[in-house]
Amino acid sequence: MPLKIRNSRWTKVDHYVEALLIPPDPVLDAALKASAAAGLPDIAVTPGQGKFLHLLARMHGARRILEIGTLGGYSTIWLARALPPDGRLVTLEADPTHQNVARDNITRAGLAPRVEHRLGLALETLPQLTGPFDFIFIDADKENAAAYFKWAMRLSRPGTAIVVDNVVRGGAVAKPSAHDSSSRGIHEMNEAIRREPRVTATVLQTVGRKGYDGFMLALVTD
Ligand code: SAH
Ligand code: DHB
Ligand code: MG
Repeated sequence: MPLKIRNSRWTKVDHYVEALLIPPDPVLDAALKASAAAGLPDIAVTPGQGKFLHLLARMHGARRILEIGTLGGYSTIWLARALPPDGRLVTLEADPTHQNVARDNITRAGLAPRVEHRLGLALETLPQLTGPFDFIFIDADKENAAAYFKWAMRLSRPGTAIVVDNVVRGGAVAKPSAHDSSSRGIHEMNEAIRREPRVTATVLQTVGRKGYDGFMLALVTD
C-alpha cells in the first residue's frame, strides 16, 4: 500500500469545506506562504485538520498545550488560538530554520506571548518540561512516536487528551510487515498504547488534500 494515495474528490471536498466553514485568514495564509518561501516541506496539517485540532483543544478547555513538531507553526497557531488569554503552549522543534520561520509566523499571529519554543531533539527537550499538560499533539518524526507517547504519559494528568498525526499512512500501518520506518514507528507506538492501562484510545481515518491518513486520539483516564 503506497503511503500517498491522492484522490481528486477528497481534495475537492476539502476545498468545499474550507470555502464553507473556514474563512480566509491572512495570518494562516501568510504562515503557509512564509513556510514555502523558506523551503519548508509542505506537510503541515490541512486547514480542516487544523480547525479540527483547534476545536478539540477548545472543547477540552485546554489551558496548557504541548506540541511535538513545530515546522512553520501552522498547527501551533490553530492550537494556540484555542487557549484562553492566560493559556500557554510549548512547542518542540529540532530544526532551527523551522523554528525561526515558526517564531515569525506566531508573532504575526499575535500569539508570541502564549507560545514557548524549545529547540533541539524532542527526546532531549522533553525531559526539561514540567507537566501536566491538558492537551498534547504529537507530530514530529514517526520513528520516535512510541517514545513521544511515553513522554506524553509522563507529562499528563487524568483527563489529558493526546492526539497523534499520521497514524494511518495510506493504510500502510495495518500491514503487519510495514516496511517503512515511519509505519514501524507508529506500530510500536500503537503497541505501547495497547499495553498502557491508563489510556483509552481510537484512530480516526482521514482523507483530503494530504491523501489518506489519520489521527490517534487518546484520553488519559487515571
Ligand atoms: N505540526 C506541524 C508539522 C510538523 S512536521 C504542522 O502541522 O504545522 C514535523 C516537524 O518535526 C518538522 O519540523 C521536523 O523538523 C520536526 N522534527 C523531526 N524530528 C524531530 C525531533 N527528533 N525532535 C524535534 N522535532 C523534530
Ligand atoms: C508527512 C506528513 C505529515 O503530516 C508529517 O507530520 C510528516 C510527513 C508526509 O506527508 O510526508
Ligand atoms: Mg503530521
